[in-house]
This record gives sequence, structure tokens and C-alpha cells, in this order.
Amino acid sequence: MLQLVITLALAATMAQCEEEVMKNLTTVTWAHAVNDKAYLEKALASDVSMLEADIVLGHITGKDGPPIPVMAHPPATTSDLSLSEFLSTVKQHNNLNSKQKGVKLDFKSIEAFEKAQPIIAPYSKPEITFPLWLNADILPGPVKATTKPVDADKFLKLASEHPRAVLSVGWTTNYGGNITEGEYSREHIGTMLRKLHENHINQTVTIPVRAGIASNSQPVLLDLLRETAYLNSSMTVWSSEGDFVEVDRLRALLLTVGLERSYLDVPKDLADRLHLPPAANVKN
Ligand SMILES: *[C@@H]1O[C@H](CO)[C@@H](O)[C@H](O)[C@H]1NC(C)=O
Ligand SMILES: *[C@@H]1O[C@H](CO)[C@@H](O)[C@H](O)[C@H]1NC(C)=O
Ligand SMILES: *[C@@H]1O[C@H](CO)[C@@H](O)[C@H](O)[C@H]1NC(C)=O
Ligand SMILES: *[C@@H]1O[C@H](CO)[C@@H](O)[C@H](O)[C@H]1NC(C)=O
Repeated sequence: MLQLVITLALAATMAQCEEEVMKNLTTVTWAHAVNDKAYLEKALASDVSMLEADIVLGHITGKDGPPIPVMAHPPATTSDLSLSEFLSTVKQHNNLNSKQKGVKLDFKSIEAFEKAQPIIAPYSKPEITFPLWLNADILPGPVKATTKPVDADKFLKLASEHPRAVLSVGWTTNYGGNITEGEYSREHIGTMLRKLHENHINQTVTIPVRAGIASNSQPVLLDLLRETAYLNSSMTVWSSEGDFVEVDRLRALLLTVGLERSYLDVPKDLADRLHLPPAANVKN
């Protein structure tokens, strides 16, 4: 009897391990700036899993009237694709395909997010199942970034009305070019935690971090992920083309946090240089 119990317990542990190892978030692939009709068609026809797109308040090219949420990256304010059409096109595609594409909506201003509420609402209902991420830089970050963040309290309050959505909230950054050093500070992490608590966030959260900076910030990022484990938190490591990245340190960060908690959205050459180990070689 005891033998049986031990065997069962062992089997359960092994099954759990297998499940964890199989969960490798770095296998998720990305299309970026899917901000016009032609590129949306192309991205939907490709085998990427997530479509990242930017939303501003603006106009459909050639049309007047009050500004609406459209797919464009600042400073552009016009597009041939509205947020509404973007989402309905993705939904249509997903209805017809067994492998669903997810969307990461990067809101560039609180005004765009506010106006987007009724447009997003039908897609954050439980019967819709494709991944829906709501992203914004809500806090000022390294290195002394001066870009104006999206209002943190307003963003979190509105986003929490879409409990199915993954909240992707991070810091503005000033990095790249001749800026090759920087780190996320204890204060950056503390402010993020405070904002999540104050706004009673209770849904899945991912924290986007810029690769070159994140690789210098392992201790504080581990703290942040530990403190947000109750939100099933993960990090999403991203990088701009040409950012200086200490590859060995980034690799150490990814393996310490774990590939089951790390999305990786970096240029292909950087991803290749990381030489992430296959399942059998990962040690904790
Ligand atoms: C970094 O580059 C910017 C713009 O390219 C330039 O204005 C600045 O002087 C440079 N700073 C240093 C320390 O080289
Ligand atoms: C968090 O949300 C879940 C449902 O998604 C609910 O059961 C739980 O009570 C909530 N927790 C808090 C602290 O609000
Ligand atoms: C975390 O994941 C568990 C298991 O899937 C789920 O029951 C819970 O609601 C999730 N909590 C949050 C805040 O996402
Ligand atoms: C995780 O996925 C990456 C990218 O596909 C791959 O290079 C790596 O070997 C995988 N590792 C594990 C542990 O599954």
C-alpha cells in the first residue's frame, strides 16, 4: 500500500515536471507593428503566434471626424486600419483556423485606451479565447527616460475591467545608440508593485523589460516576479534592433527566471546568440 502511494506520488511529481518543462514561453513568436491592412494579412498568413500592434488616437487616411483608435506608431496619427477592424479581422481569422493568433495591443496614450474601451470589450468576454494582451509603458524608467508614460492609475483601472486580458505593463526606457548601460532600480520595481496593489490588480500580468537593461537587473527582477507570483506573472524580454546587450548575462537571467516564465521578443540574431538549452539541459 505504502509502495503504491509512493509510486503514485512519484508519478505525479514527474508528470508535473514534464508539464513545466514543456511550458517554454520563449517558443512564442512575434510580429511587430502590425499597423496596416497589408501587414495584418501577411502576419495572419504567417506562422507567428502573437501580433503586436500600436494604437493611437487618429484618423483613417483621408477621413475626417472625431479621432478614433487607429493602428499607428507615434508620431503617425493616420492608418488604413482602425482598432475595430484589426480586432474583427483577427477574430474572423481565428474562427476559421485551429491555431489561434493572439494580439498584444500597445496603447500609446491614455486617451487612445479610454476611447478603445467599447471596442475591446467584446473581445475580453470569456467566450473569446485568443490571447489578448493590453500593453502600455505606465511608469518612467531607465535610463532617465523622458518619454511621457501612459497614466498608470487610469490604465490599470480600465484594464482591470477586462479580467481575461493579460496586463503587460512596463516602464518607458531610454537606451540604445550610445546608451549602453543602465538598470531597473529597486525604486522602479517598488513603484510598479505599489501601482498593482493600489489598483487591486487580480489578473495575469507580464512585465515587459528591455533586454540590455534587464540583463543588469537580475536581483530586482527576481524580487518583482516573486512578489507578483500571485498574478501568475512573467517577464517579456524585448529589445530594439542595435541595442547593446550583454548576451551571457541575459541568458543567465532567462535561465534563472525560467523559460516557463519568460517571453522572449528580441531580434533573431540576439535570440540565436543566446543558445537557449533544449529541455533536457535546463537546470534550476
Ligand atoms: C550620444 O548620442 C547623441 C545623439 O546621437 C549625442 O547628442 C550625444 O552627445 C552622445 N553622447 C555621448 C556621451 O557620446
Ligand atoms: C481574484 O479573481 C478571482 C476570479 O478570477 C476571484 O475568485 C478572487 O476572489 C479574486 N481575488 C481577489 C483578492 O479579489
Ligand atoms: C493564476 O492561475 C491559476 C491557475 O491557472 C488560476 O486559477 C488563477 O485565477 C490565476 N490568477 C491570476 C491572478 O491570473
Ligand atoms: C525553448 O524554446 C527555445 C526557442 O524555441 C529553444 O531554443 C529552447 O531549446 C527551448 N528550451 C526548452 C527548455 O524547451
